[in-house]
Amino acid sequence: MTRLASWSALPSALALLATPAVAQQPTDQALIDKGEYLARAGDCTACHTAPEGEPFAGGLPMSTPVGTIYTTNITPDKETGIGQYTVEDFANALRNGEAKDGHQLYPAMPYPSFSTLNDADIEALYAYFQHGVEPVVKENRDSDIPWPMSMRWPLNVWAWMFAPDEVGYQPDASKSDEWNRGAYLVEGLGHCGTCHTPRGIAFQEKGYAAGDEDYLAGAELDGWYAFNITGDEDHGVGGWSDEQLITYLETGSVPGKAQAAGPMGEAIGHSLRFLKREDLKAIATYLKSVPAVSEAGPSRFEQGQPADDVARLRGIDLTEDAAQDQGARLYLGACASCHGASGQGSQDGHYPPLINNSVMGSTHLGNLTQVVLHGIHRETNDGELLMPALDQDISNDEAASLMAYLVEQFGHPDAQAPTAAEIDEWRQAGH
Ligand code: HEC
Ligand code: HEC
Ligand code: HEC
Repeated sequence: MTRLASWSALPSALALLATPAVAQQPTDQALIDKGEYLARAGDCTACHTAPEGEPFAGGLPMSTPVGTIYTTNITPDKETGIGQYTVEDFANALRNGEAKDGHQLYPAMPYPSFSTLNDADIEALYAYFQHGVEPVVKENRDSDIPWPMSMRWPLNVWAWMFAPDEVGYQPDASKSDEWNRGAYLVEGLGHCGTCHTPRGIAFQEKGYAAGDEDYLAGAELDGWYAFNITGDEDHGVGGWSDEQLITYLETGSVPGKAQAAGPMGEAIGHSLRFLKREDLKAIATYLKSVPAVSEAGPSRFEQGQPADDVARLRGIDLTEDAAQDQGARLYLGACASCHGASGQGSQDGHYPPLINNSVMGSTHLGNLTQVVLHGIHRETNDGELLMPALDQDISNDEAASLMAYLVEQFGHPDAQAPTAAEIDEWRQAGH
């Protein structure tokens, strides 16, 4: 560079000085694009973007057992973001949960899952977060956790006890490339286990990989239940075809099987619907191979029976029911226009049948309570999907009688509809 620094060449010399030496060869656009795709697969935006906030500037509150923490600014701003991170610092944060200044991160950042990221993918993600994301000046916010709980050293102990020791994915040579790609995405970037794997006493996921006990066996999640997605035929996804799984992950809806509301609707909206078909296929192949965990989680009911048959079998006659039953009247007024008088849904599947639906047919009624009270609002590749929320318009008593009607008509024979007092508790808990 010095050789160019004659007075006459000053403007161009300054231009050169302004770009760091390493960037003389501008970062390859293909690498940035690859990083963007991987950031989608890792759903970095779900946590690092606050509602109405700038992309990746952090500030989303997340509750932990000890109090609320806030996600950080991971835009390339030099002062408030990660603009000063080297690729090594970045790898260390993602795979070991260690920030640049050495402090240990809360496992609310899913670094135990991201530990499997390979070097090539770290490099692509780094290129994207340094060159593909707009820098935003936004200070990180301290946690609301009071001292002494706010001390970070116990997090080192936690990491030492519970986070995987090895970094980088170790392919299983006895399995196909497709299976290994699926494992890499599910166990790693996709961090499906953060919601679908039950947690132990220190809030750690009980397993991080296929073969670990209880891995993906289903877990409670702020009033939702993230179902068992092991290969079990009854409780898990063993009975789904590959095509059904792919369609679910891409669109969030397989009529007569399952829809994706709440946290799963968001995971699809921000992340999974952008994945390539071959990656979704790899995920499906892997999921169906995850050793079945059977006792765990609620049962499903009557999956696969033609909806019309079930309605006939159960003798549903809504007008007759509605004359005598508050729940049936509410169903007629609030649900039947979309889901049909006997829960058969619309022909095109846009309004799904309530029969053979995994939420409706579950013995765990958390998800049903959530969708009845809060509705559904999510992004798909074909636009927004809406189911209205009833929360403001329905008393505890009415909600209980509606739920009783739903369970009676469409639900699992062992499911217990919540009482008005339980609905009240549910609302008090802020679900
Ligand atoms: C489930 C939520 C969640 C997801 C998904 C997530 N993060 Fe985080 N991340 C967090 C939280 C929470 C923190 C801050 C933890 C703390 O303060 O201890 C964090 C911290 C970080 C840090 C350290 C930043 C700093 O300020 O020093 C980096 C880097 C980071 N995340 C990158 C990523 C990337 C890249 C992705 C996607 C591949 C991602 N995160 C996905 C929750 C998440
Ligand atoms: C943020 C939490 C969260 C994450 C991350 C998440 N899920 Fe889910 N998942 C849920 C919840 C909650 C449900 C239930 C949705 C509903 O009832 O509408 C669900 C439902 C599902 C279902 C349908 C199960 C059924 O029987 O109806 C499948 C399949 C699934 N998830 C697969 C995955 C895969 C694969 C990943 C990772 C790529 C993943 N999920 C990541 C929370 C999550
Ligand atoms: C305006 C039309 C509309 C009305 C009214 C409506 N729904 Fe829905 N409902 C939908 C749509 C659309 C979906 C599919 C959303 C998706 O794919 O995520 C849905 C999905 C569902 C699901 C599946 C949720 C899941 O996570 O799998 C259940 C259960 C459900 N509705 C029950 C009801 C009940 C009970 C009522 C009456 C209280 C009702 N719906 C009223 C449009 C409606």
